[in-house]
Amino acid sequence: MKQRDHNEIPFLIGVLGGTITTEDTDRINANSSPTPFGEPSAALQKVDIGHANVAFMARHGLPHAIAPHDINYRANLWTLHEASVSAIVAMYAVGAIRNDLAIGDIVIPDQIVDYTWGREGSFNATLGLKHFDFSEPFSPVVRQHLLSSAKESGHSVHSTATYGCTQGPRLETSAEIERLRRDGCDLVGMTAMPEAALARELNIPFGGICLIVNAAAGRGDGPIRHQEIGLAISQNSANLLDIVGRAARALRDSFR
Ligand code: HPA
Repeated sequence: MKQRDHNEIPFLIGVLGGTITTEDTDRINANSSPTPFGEPSAALQKVDIGHANVAFMARHGLPHAIAPHDINYRANLWTLHEASVSAIVAMYAVGAIRNDLAIGDIVIPDQIVDYTWGREGSFNATLGLKHFDFSEPFSPVVRQHLLSSAKESGHSVHSTATYGCTQGPRLETSAEIERLRRDGCDLVGMTAMPEAALARELNIPFGGICLIVNAAAGRGDGPIRHQEIGLAISQNSANLLDIVGRAARALRDSFR
């Protein structure tokens, strides 16, 4: 199968969302269509985020039911690729490890450490063996648009962070979080990998934006509570979506 040159395609920006999501609007496809890698999590939706029409993929499905280790990442990325998106912005709800990160903060990560296992993480057999460069896992161009959109919107963000990607679906032990900290991880989530690597294989510029929804295990004042996570999401998603909408518009214009 041939790869597309995403720089030649004019306008559609893809957005991947999970726990942080948006209102359901028109569907681009009425049903999710199978890919050579199986079914994606959901049908791609045309969604308006801050006056930007984006192609939205709900990575945990609609309704939210697919656990991080069960997500068909290849089918999701392939679906976005088939829709000819020019770039992807991926939204993540994450736990804070670094001391200066607080619940409600927004972070534009620049690095990843991958602790996941057993996930289908490559299109190798389809696209041919590739040892592609991944020293910078997030596209500097998408990162720059996210950072300038945050500045324009007046929302302050942390401009660098290392995302430690764990297997889930359980949360981590306190000792695991200590290990992640020693490894240089600033925040922890379960879904950035293999998403970021698959996007790179498909040559789609890919950037991430994270919302801190809890203190990672052992870093807060007790167990991690779902209620707190829900509250952090409902109170802060609008700010994050404002940044994503602005970045999507700027990215779309840059590809015109
Ligand atoms: N750990 C892993 N993934 C997460 C967390 C966490 O503490 N919070 C939100 N996603």
